[in-house]
Amino acid sequence: MKIDRDAPVGVFDSGVGGLTVAREIMRNLPSEKIVYFGDTARVPYGNKSKDTIIRYSRQIIRFLQEQQVKAIVIACNTASAFALDAVRDDLDIPVLGVIEPGAVVAARETRNKRVGVIGTIGTVGSGIHEDFLRQLDPEITVLGKACPLFVPLVEEGWLHDPVTFEVARRYLRELQEREIDTLILGCTHYPLLRSTIREVMGESVRLVNPAYETALELKRLLTEKDLLSTGKEEEEFPYRFYVSDLADKFKSFANSILPYDVEMTQKIDIEKY
Ligand code: DGL
Repeated sequence: MKIDRDAPVGVFDSGVGGLTVAREIMRNLPSEKIVYFGDTARVPYGNKSKDTIIRYSRQIIRFLQEQQVKAIVIACNTASAFALDAVRDDLDIPVLGVIEPGAVVAARETRNKRVGVIGTIGTVGSGIHEDFLRQLDPEITVLGKACPLFVPLVEEGWLHDPVTFEVARRYLRELQEREIDTLILGCTHYPLLRSTIREVMGESVRLVNPAYETALELKRLLTEKDLLSTGKEEEEFPYRFYVSDLADKFKSFANSILPYDVEMTQKIDIEKY
C-alpha cells in the first residue's frame, strides 16, 4: 500500500490530555497536519479494564483510518499500555504509543538506576514501564505510583495551587524516600504539573516528559519510512479536532495549552465505529 506522505497524522487520547502530545508534534513537526480525536464521552480511561480500552482504541483507529491518516500516535498512556500491541497487528500504517519513548530516555538518563513512574491506576498497574526499562537495562529498579487525583486537578486548571502541591507531596513522598533519580511523567496531564512536581522532587531528579520524546520518535519514524510531509500543501486548517462529546471544556483547555487557536471541534458518534 502506498501511503500519502502529505496525509495527516492521527493522534488520539481519552480526552483533552493528549493535547500535550499534539502540542509537541506541532512544535517539532510544524509541517505535519494532525487529526486529533479526544474520547470526551468515555474519559477517564485510567480506571477501566484492558479489554474495554482495546475496544475503544480499535473504534477510534477505525475512525482515524476513515480520515486517511498516514500514521497514528496513541497519545494516551493508558491506551498505549493496554492497546498498542493489540492494534499494531491490525494496521498497515505506522503506530506508536507514548510509553516506549519515555522509557528509552529514562533508561539513558538514570545514573543510580532507580526510576520512578507516575501515571493512572491502569498504566502503573500494567507494569509496562518496568518491562521496557528492564529490557533496556536489567539493573534498573522501577518504582511506580498511581496519582489519580492529578488528572482532575489539571482539568480544573489548578496547576500552581497549594492543594495540588500538597497532593503531589503526598503521592511523591514514597518515590523520594526510595531515592529515585529519574521520574517518568507517565500520564498525558502530568507535564502540565511539571513545575509543582519539580518543586516537590527537587532539582536533582530528572523529569521525563514522554510527550516530547514521542514527538521526536514520530519524526524519526516518519523520516525512516519516507513519510515526512513535504509541507507543500498548505491548508487553512492543518489541525482538525474531533470529540465523542461536545464539551466546551475541550475548546477552552485546548486554547489554554496549544500554540494554535482551536475554533471548531466536531462531535463524532464513536460507538458507530
Ligand atoms: N489520558 C490518560 C493517560 O494518559 C489520563 C486520563 C484518563 O484516565 O483517561 O493515561
